[in-house]
Amino acid sequence: HTAEIGLIGLGVMGSNLALNIAEKGHRIAVWNRTTETTRRFAEDAGALGAMIVPCDTLADLAAAIRPPRPIILMVPAGAVVDEQIRALRPLLSADDILIDAGNANFRDTMRRFDELDGSGLAFIGMGVSGGEDGARNGPSIMVGGAPSSWLRVKDVLVAVAAQYRGEPCVAHLGSDGAGHFVKTIHNGIEYADMQMIAEVYGLLRDGAGLKAGEMARLFQTWNGGRLESYLVEITASVLATEDPETGDPIVDVILDRAGQKGTGRWAAIEAQTMAVPATAIEAAVAARSLSAMKDERVAAEALYGAPVTAFSKANRRAVIDDLESALYAGKIAAYAQGFAVMEAASREFAWGLPLATVARIWRAGCIIRSQFLDDIARAYDEDAPANLLAAPRFVKAMQDAHPALRRTVARAAAAGIPVPALSAALAYFDTYRTARGTANLIQAQRDYFGAHGFERIDAGGAHHGPWSG
Ligand code: 6PG
Repeated sequence: HTAEIGLIGLGVMGSNLALNIAEKGHRIAVWNRTTETTRRFAEDAGALGAMIVPCDTLADLAAAIRPPRPIILMVPAGAVVDEQIRALRPLLSADDILIDAGNANFRDTMRRFDELDGSGLAFIGMGVSGGEDGARNGPSIMVGGAPSSWLRVKDVLVAVAAQYRGEPCVAHLGSDGAGHFVKTIHNGIEYADMQMIAEVYGLLRDGAGLKAGEMARLFQTWNGGRLESYLVEITASVLATEDPETGDPIVDVILDRAGQKGTGRWAAIEAQTMAVPATAIEAAVAARSLSAMKDERVAAEALYGAPVTAFSKANRRAVIDDLESALYAGKIAAYAQGFAVMEAASREFAWGLPLATVARIWRAGCIIRSQFLDDIARAYDEDAPANLLAAPRFVKAMQDAHPALRRTVARAAAAGIPVPALSAALAYFDTYRTARGTANLIQAQRDYFGAHGFERIDAGGAHHGPWSG
């Protein structure tokens, strides 16, 4: 009756992942800090209870699993993971595998690999996306670690992962921190997607004067086309939902102050560290931080007056018609940035990240799942572009969609409606496709005040300007 695998941490994600594993026929031993939680979990598991071994102590857990033991940690990221590893170590033997399935910072994951190096224990840093429903019914799983560790847990992970047209959404992406890094970029892109959708909602609400129900129908229509995605789908569903207390649309009674747990910010920080522009992701993180400054915003509106001028009636139809394309163009730019960050990290950490595979395992299970990711997978399969914006299929798509993004950002600016992520996406695109930029002036300034030198367009080598004074 020994279990095949163990799991520590029976919060929502841990419980659901354990049930998913049990349901796929893998006997699983579970332990939680509070024994009460462990017992209740096993009792509530119904028929799946037969596949679950509840353990009161960590020693019981270790004894319940057939060596070499794979043990999943689904505990809050940070110090708790280190504490848990410390508590487990004396109970484990060589070749056991610890799998951190939380939202770890990949730099912590790299450190943990170093700390366990030479201990005989194997380690896997595993990104899991899809929220509670994903954990229960099929998440997208991003694995980082030694290929030998992956091979030992592959069967279980393939069984529990989401499937996109029969293909499991799980893959070994690289060594040590690769899985958690890719999860971090997933979350950065998640932030950008959510922010751009919220900006479109703002244009519809404050510019075009639409009611939530009308917007719900628009998003639902868009979800039937190239914007088909989980986030657009749930946006339609959210906008169609009433508040049971007041009967108003639920969005109208929710405070406009966004939370964030840090993974989106990490994506922006890592992009900056590697000097890869990820401006749409950065704008989305900043927008959440600005949203949290509710009191200051209320005070500032009193100082400056409400900024918004609604679109003229005559203009409304054109505005709305452009939004689908604007969102699509913004999405292309934001994903181009996220994938460029992964490309750079892959080089820096020698992960060899398979970017087409990353796109493929994001097609189902995860929060950013969409049809669009299938196009990205094909783009990387076809021609390994330097940037998604240079991939032939996206050149065509962007040529078609960027004029609408441009008109949308212009209208938003004129009306005083903030669209930080959409405008960052547009500025990125415009800068990326401009052969002769304006950094010649920056170079002149740098040389002027600091003799940093510059290159000339008509001669090689380093040069200085004829500055006086
Ligand atoms: C996922 C999500 C998830 C994330 C939450 C909350 O892929 O399932 O990214 O891992 O933790 O969405 O993130 P924030 O609190 O930062 O919005």
